[in-house]
Amino acid sequence: MNFSDKVVYQIYPKSFCDSNGDGNGDIRGIIGKLDYLKRLGVDLIWSTPFFVSPMNDNGYDVADYRAIDPRFGTMSDVEELIAEADKRGIGLMFDMVFNHTSTEHEWFQRAIKGEQKYIDYYIFKDGAPDKPPTNWESKFGGNAWEYVPHLKKWYLHLFDVTQADLNWENPEVRAELKDILCFWKSKGLKGFRFDVVNLISKPAEFVDDDRGDGRRFYTDGRHVHEFLKELVADSGIDGMITVGEMSSTSLDNCIRYTNPNEHELSMAFSFHHLKVDYKDGQKWELMPPDIGALKKLFATWQEGMSDAGGWNAVFWCNHDQPRAISRFGDDKNYWAQSAKMLAAAIHFMRGTPYIYQGEELGMTNAKYTSIDQYRDVESLNYYNIMLKNGKTVEEAIEILGERSRDNGRTPMQWSAEKHAGFSTVEPWIIPPDNYKTINAAAEVDDPDSVFNFYRQLIALRKRYKIIADGDIKFIEPDNNDVLAYERTLGDQKLTVLCNFRDHDVRLRQSVKDFGGEKLIGNYDGVEDYLRPFEVAVLK
Ligand code: GLC
Repeated sequence: MNFSDKVVYQIYPKSFCDSNGDGNGDIRGIIGKLDYLKRLGVDLIWSTPFFVSPMNDNGYDVADYRAIDPRFGTMSDVEELIAEADKRGIGLMFDMVFNHTSTEHEWFQRAIKGEQKYIDYYIFKDGAPDKPPTNWESKFGGNAWEYVPHLKKWYLHLFDVTQADLNWENPEVRAELKDILCFWKSKGLKGFRFDVVNLISKPAEFVDDDRGDGRRFYTDGRHVHEFLKELVADSGIDGMITVGEMSSTSLDNCIRYTNPNEHELSMAFSFHHLKVDYKDGQKWELMPPDIGALKKLFATWQEGMSDAGGWNAVFWCNHDQPRAISRFGDDKNYWAQSAKMLAAAIHFMRGTPYIYQGEELGMTNAKYTSIDQYRDVESLNYYNIMLKNGKTVEEAIEILGERSRDNGRTPMQWSAEKHAGFSTVEPWIIPPDNYKTINAAAEVDDPDSVFNFYRQLIALRKRYKIIADGDIKFIEPDNNDVLAYERTLGDQKLTVLCNFRDHDVRLRQSVKDFGGEKLIGNYDGVEDYLRPFEVAVLK
């Protein structure tokens, strides 16, 4: 599939639309909103998992890859979703969580009953109960090993203790995963997203990390490229649209993951640009975003991928991230301007843009005031860790308010009605109060809305080849207020200037002197300087 002019919309089903009044979003809820997505103009939907799961990590702990969790609906609902989306020219991408399974998966259950075949599906190590095989840390906090007393073995879990890492060295595991892909491919999907797929290849030796949490031993691991090539070739998904979620990855590896000559994936998510507000690299320590660092990262990744034939998935938001507008914009004084500026900043980059549900409405962080309002396993774990490490309750709540994944998981704000029009009953997680003004009903018919700005961005990508296929070069490298780049295709040129500050900013030359007509922006006309959170796109 040629995907350079495509735009993907991410759905987190639990929070998208509740069709049966149980407070949780479901598949039929998505079907009911397909016309909304068609109106927005997206080409593909990536849905996060709705397979059978104990839901300790909201479905990223899969217990059966071929069955739909009844909380979300049935297989026939899913088939109808695929067919109805197809009628509207929208393809579906499902989320394959292949680094680990839930400990409720049949394979793990048989492993802990002592069946050697299934013990070999996971990463079990012999050992004494008081000493985990290594000091590696789980990404959700605590040691990454769990002891099973009756087996006298530890198993590895890079995430929650109920998410056991699969042993990809075992060819039988790889064969099982290929079968799952074939099963879903035959249902008419257009593509797949692969969860933390650069963590699948573990080292030959398991040793303590004296310099970190262990990630350097398994990130972009020794066989990862081999395993991906084999998975893609044997399941016949080369040519479908595929995106890998790459945790703490490197540019060189992402070039290899995504250069078409390698026959691995179509594109990669990397996250370095979403750590520029981590103090000393620590997610749970706050600092204002470093815009200079953000610019450098975008320049390195955009130009580096471009030069070497790689392809980026470009995005600000997903179900693991706080809302970009609350993070890099001003969600109070320049709400619409910052939502539009952030949208344009990535939609004109080289890569495939991903819109995360509600981003097209300018949805903000939740701003919860009490730990009882949080649901996410990572947030709850780190709340306790922060208190143990001496933070006060107020400090921990402030940090969660900025960093919790639940900020991105609040119910989709469909209308000003009770529960944001998401459900007829109290949702599993409460919406922020601002749904009364920030919602789809208020925006779809307003030509100046954030929604219609996104709609225009998508339409422009279809109309101008330079947006989809042009080269990219970053300009104004010394200005730490403005992100600026040029796209070129043949003799055409497009300039994108984005002010990340809440005040006017001047560039070395007048904005007008960049030349060309204004293609789109979030203020009327063009001044010599950029107004607060202004974006100007000149062609
Ligand atoms: C990915 C998912 C995240 C999940 C984790 C473990 O990062 O996006 O939601 O918790 O993998 O599967």
